[in-house]
Amino acid sequence: MTRERDEGEHMAQDFDRDYWEDRYRGHAGGHGVPPNPHLVAEASDLEPGRALDAGAGTGAEARWLAGRGWRVTAADISQAALDAARERTADLDPQAAGRIAWVRADLTEGIPGGGGYDLVCSHYAHPTGGYAAFFGLLASAVAPGGTLFVVGHDHTGPHGHAGSHGHDGSLEHARVGAAEVAAVLDPGAWEVLVSESRSREVERGGHRSVLHDAVLRARRRA
Ligand SMILES: C[S@@+](CC[C@H](N)C(=O)[O-])C[C@H]1O[C@@H](n2cnc3c(N)ncnc32)[C@H](O)[C@@H]1O
Repeated sequence: MTRERDEGEHMAQDFDRDYWEDRYRGHAGGHGVPPNPHLVAEASDLEPGRALDAGAGTGAEARWLAGRGWRVTAADISQAALDAARERTADLDPQAAGRIAWVRADLTEGIPGGGGYDLVCSHYAHPTGGYAAFFGLLASAVAPGGTLFVVGHDHTGPHGHAGSHGHDGSLEHARVGAAEVAAVLDPGAWEVLVSESRSREVERGGHRSVLHDAVLRARRRA
């Protein structure tokens, strides 16, 4: 599986635990995959503390955060993803590995580790069941003064239809706009620092293409 993503091949279906376990089974663990560039751009200036990576996949972002001194709860619905991530991290960065807890959890049902995180981040998570409840739950896990950081497949603007990505519109629910995420945040309690669409070039299978991302960074008022 390429990480930058081959989701367009999938037809309409539930993105439930079975789907993700199948997708990650036998996966080598994202060797050499860099952390999400939006996270690197937006989180490099944050003071390390406790972080939750929601939908951590094969762990590139958790590894990057832990490498910068964060204590990371890397949560994912797929045990296969977490096994690959744990193995890969032990190989690549044993010191960072000691700062990551790999936790199997359905994040639509609750937040592992008791909440109060200095950073909650999520990259391309699209759980079955709707975004408002999901991002509301993630936001509730951020400590006062802490940061919520979300990257999604952007659904706004000229690229906001399935034609460029899915065959049958099945990925429509995997798309989100930054404004949609911001809408779940109470303006009295949150300062939205970044809420925008960003495009970037990626290489997949020797071909370069452009990804359109929705990026939200918000700070919970202390
Ligand atoms: C498109 S992948 C992105 C993985 C990783 N964040 C990245 O950027 O490479 C979405 C991830 O969310 C996880 N996921 C989906 N639904 C979830 C849920 N309800 N609870 C926890 N993780 C979930 C999947 O297992 C998968 O690893």
